[in-house]
Amino acid sequence: MRHLALFLPLILLCGEATADPGIDEAEFNYFVLCRGCHGPEGAGAVDRVPNLTGEMGRFLHVSGGREFLVQVPGSANAPVDDEELAGLLNWMLGQFSPAELPDRFQPYSAEEVGKLRQEPLMEVDQYRATLVAQMPKR
Ligand code: HEC
Repeated sequence: MRHLALFLPLILLCGEATADPGIDEAEFNYFVLCRGCHGPEGAGAVDRVPNLTGEMGRFLHVSGGREFLVQVPGSANAPVDDEELAGLLNWMLGQFSPAELPDRFQPYSAEEVGKLRQEPLMEVDQYRATLVAQMPKR
């Protein structure tokens, strides 16, 4: 009986984690695969990993920016399938940068992400800087 009391919360937790696979899967993948560098709140690390909070959605306003979010090595090379990567990026945008999303934001689809991640970026830093330079002023 004592054992059951110990394990019951664990069993309930597991049940909850599988109840909504769409959302929880993306959140889970972020926490396992991306949080180490991007931080639990998407704040990144000074001079090393860019801040996503209030920023990530701004890429969707410049030409090539939507593609960039998929082609950047952290996304393109993530050990997840296309469906999961699409879900992960949509979750990140909604979580870290909802106010910056374009009015008619179309979530990423598995198909779109699958094509883009096969065209990796060269000179990531330089390319990123040209996109940031084109972003509308706040
Ligand atoms: C080893 C550290 C590291 C990990 C782990 C990592 N990233 Fe990144 N991420 C970066 C860095 C650094 C950049 C800036 C661009 C570059 O140099 O690649 C970046 C940029 C990005 C960007 C573009 C945003 C911007 O402002 O440049 C996205 C989107 C992104 N990462 C998604 C992910 C996802 C999704 C994961 C997890 C599957 C992930 N990253 C894991 C370090 C990391």
